[in-house]
Amino acid sequence: MTSDRDAVRRRAAARCRERGVVIPTLAQLRDPDLIPGGLRGRLAGVGLWDVDPLNLFRITWRNDPRTGQFNAGNWLEFPAALTGVEARIVGMVGKWFPTGAHKVGAGFGCLVPRLVGGEFDPTAQVAVWPSTGNFCRGGAFDCALLGCRALAILPEEMSRERFEWLRSIGAEIVATPGCESNVKEIYDECWRIRDTRPECVIFNQFEEFGNAVWHYHVTGEAADAIFRRVAGPRDRLAAFVSATGSAGTLAAGDHLRSRHPDLKICAVEALQCPTLLRCGFGGHRIEGIGDKHVPWIHNVRNTDFLAAIDDEQCIAVMRLFNEPEGWTALERAGVPLELVENLPLLGISSLCNLAAAIKLARWYELDARDVVIVPLTDSMELYQSRLHELRDRRGHYDRDQAAADHARWLLGCTPDWTRELGYRDRQALHNLKYFTWVEQQGRTVEELRRLWDPDFWRETYAVAAAWDRQIAEFNELIGS
Ligand SMILES: Cc1ncc(COP(=O)(O)O)c(C=O)c1O
Repeated sequence: MTSDRDAVRRRAAARCRERGVVIPTLAQLRDPDLIPGGLRGRLAGVGLWDVDPLNLFRITWRNDPRTGQFNAGNWLEFPAALTGVEARIVGMVGKWFPTGAHKVGAGFGCLVPRLVGGEFDPTAQVAVWPSTGNFCRGGAFDCALLGCRALAILPEEMSRERFEWLRSIGAEIVATPGCESNVKEIYDECWRIRDTRPECVIFNQFEEFGNAVWHYHVTGEAADAIFRRVAGPRDRLAAFVSATGSAGTLAAGDHLRSRHPDLKICAVEALQCPTLLRCGFGGHRIEGIGDKHVPWIHNVRNTDFLAAIDDEQCIAVMRLFNEPEGWTALERAGVPLELVENLPLLGISSLCNLAAAIKLARWYELDARDVVIVPLTDSMELYQSRLHELRDRRGHYDRDQAAADHARWLLGCTPDWTRELGYRDRQALHNLKYFTWVEQQGRTVEELRRLWDPDFWRETYAVAAAWDRQIAEFNELIGS
């Protein structure tokens, strides 16, 4: 390590010492049983959203919301009475991450390797989080825990809850023009910041492999553990289905494929912005996904299936799952009450994942031995203003509308707007990266070519062990 980096690392460790920070390893986030008992005991007195450094240990899928300790994971199974398909669609619940969304993990994966490697100085630099919403919330939260300044970049049309929370945690905010899919405008802002604010370090989730590495190891392992819990002896892990924003979460599919070679990995986007399916563009209402480009960190060679989901499907099912008449209609259709009560655990992109899982199950004619895992990345807690807007615009939600929405958007959901990818289709998606990353964002053709090589991904994901060693050394430095 150069003396400059070593000096930065020492300053970072001193800052952590002042604030009582200990950094968890990826191994501990994957398996909280590895967290020392004393530390786990202290967590019982810390709220899930508290700005307390101990919450770094809660950047895992295994938080138990009842006890404040850890469990085997949180999941919901969606039965045929709800989905119309026999396949066992199982959602991994992300609401119990600090900030209420799984993106806090992507923030950790981007920030921590640089912090412990002496590449980010929390005493002097500002961490910049370009995002369509939850990534910058996660990054700002991680910064608050580590005591460094955060700048969140997000589109002005994102939900009010997000802006309010970012202000409350003390993040600087830059609102860029447009909605969800206006990511080019976010990149333009990043370039402006690079040129004018030398104190800023940009953590671009769309190109930072730390994002994918975190998901590969932590989300991938959590998904496999849930599969092992729910599966019968003859069951198969048939698919992992994830709507892509940065495509970080999709890396969990790469991990699962390493254990379940027949698994299908499905990337999901909005029909109103079908970039992967049609090289298309447009605006849509599925917050957190669909950004009119192929992220640098999307391992497209490992993607088997695409599904584009009509945003109206997500909005209609959002009402069905969150209005009293919707709950009554679902119960009448045979959906167990315990599940109905938990349906607000699905935020809008989670509804999109559920719809895509139904399409995939229909396409591949999956049966009751097939398990399909979908991440439920955040919950309706972050979208109450969207529900209020709908009530204002569309009026009271009644029983007939609820039954019609269930029949049309779930039971009647067909595999339209999907594509099974062949070798050349995947290559076309890979090539599409050129226009964003080489033409606009300063990457080289040689770098792009390397992304087509499966060895590149194996080596990238393998860095986790080195990170954990660095984290352990850094914790020693904090203690010294
Ligand atoms: C609510 C929500 N769902 C899905 C995603 C997509 O996850 P990823 O960026 O890992 O592809 C995001 C990303 O910000 C999100 O905020």
